[in-house]
Amino acid sequence: MRIAVVGSGYVGLVTGTCFADLGHEVILVDNDDAKLAALSSGEVPIHERFLPELLARHRGNSIRFSNDLQGAVRQSQAVFIAVGTPPTERGDADLSYVESVAREISGAMNEYVVVVEKSTVPVYTSQWVRTILLRNGANPSAFDVASNPEFLREGTAVTDFLYPDRIVVGVESERCAEVLRKIYQPLTSGAYYSRPDAIPGPDGARVPPPLLITSTKSAELIKHASNAFLAMKISFINAVASICETVGANVQQVCEGIGTDSRIGPRFLNPGIGYGGSCFPKDLLAFRSVARECGYDFRLLDEVIRINEEQRHRFLRKVRGVLWTLRGKRLGVLGLAFKGGTDDIRESPAILLVQELLREGCRVSAYDPAAMDRAREVLNSSVEFVDGPYDAATGADALLILTEWEEFGALDLLRLRKLLKYPIVIDGRNLYDPCVMAQHGFSYYSVGRPAALTEDLPAGIRPENGGQR
Ligand code: UGA
Repeated sequence: MRIAVVGSGYVGLVTGTCFADLGHEVILVDNDDAKLAALSSGEVPIHERFLPELLARHRGNSIRFSNDLQGAVRQSQAVFIAVGTPPTERGDADLSYVESVAREISGAMNEYVVVVEKSTVPVYTSQWVRTILLRNGANPSAFDVASNPEFLREGTAVTDFLYPDRIVVGVESERCAEVLRKIYQPLTSGAYYSRPDAIPGPDGARVPPPLLITSTKSAELIKHASNAFLAMKISFINAVASICETVGANVQQVCEGIGTDSRIGPRFLNPGIGYGGSCFPKDLLAFRSVARECGYDFRLLDEVIRINEEQRHRFLRKVRGVLWTLRGKRLGVLGLAFKGGTDDIRESPAILLVQELLREGCRVSAYDPAAMDRAREVLNSSVEFVDGPYDAATGADALLILTEWEEFGALDLLRLRKLLKYPIVIDGRNLYDPCVMAQHGFSYYSVGRPAALTEDLPAGIRPENGGQR
């Protein structure tokens, strides 16, 4: 199939590259010439496993880069819109980029083409795209609009795309469904997975994946509802973790106990310092706003957001509860990205916490395997960016773990203990077993689990209880 993908951001770049790997002819369109030049010359703008290999495999052959949107549409059987939908001040999604793409492509549609929304958009967007195309003179029989939400996660985006749990395709006509079936046929038939050069899948991948055909409105809602549900799972377990701290229970045991119920499942039940990133925070606000417009006051989402913010404040109280005063303290910080495996710091709880610690007068030495360049742009010069986890720990009053990078869970504890000024680790991602930390002589505080104490703290201060008296 000949496919145009509009927007070379996270979703667009991964989608276009993976389509090329499925055997399609892809034109990736962007209006940012510098970005296109970088991509054409072999640069890979995001930190994403397998993306460099796939781009090298297809660049200049089955994936081309262009700033000519109309030209790309004229050559394509399907046009995927993957432009940004940033939040407005009211919290709803700004769809002006989607609209301007729709306007521009309306003049270039001669043969039948399927226009597919790939960006995360609110319900009714596909109907609006259809209206805009018609308003601008498109022939109604020359196109269909579909919704094909993407469920990829940063850090595992390529394998999420190629080994999805399901593919959701929202359509209003059989003709349109047929085009999308063909596009995904290498995955749904299983043909891709038997190729010797296929990108390897994660353990337990469901191959071939099912293709769910729905209405466009259902597909749009599936995307928002999925992200809201996952965020709700995280806030739920964070709330349970807070109760665990108060009563002295262990959230890890609670997670195992509830996650083994197949109706609940163990994934996305890791407590921490709250979710961040470019998706959950934005999509929850947008979904709440959509619900409101539809006349439904979705207060459950307000609570999910509130718990998420509270989780960060709670962590900060824990740090205060352990260190007493903060002004002038030197803290080692491990992790700045919003989660492990990415260089993305958008809405990162780690960044927000570091900013708060700086406001309180702490001196911070921070290390992140991928996100330091981006972090430098938003954190003031008082943060010292160091070359590794041990440098961050050297001479620090305490070490804070803020991002769940795998390498942070495998530190040399003997070395770490020697380097820290005081053997105190406050872990916002529960990467260590408290007993092991105690055996190594650390005072170790985590989320929702009893602290491992190697020193006496003043009576009444309970850092494991969010630092409250
Ligand atoms: C999320 C969804 O997981 C994807 O399915 C979706 O396609 C994507 O948003 C999107 O809408 O584009 P992503 O934002 O890349 O993907 O990251 P997640 O892996 O979902 O993590 C989000 C945040 O939740 C991170 O800050 C992470 O640290 C936190 N998290 C995740 C937890 O605190 N606990 C968990 O158990 C899981």
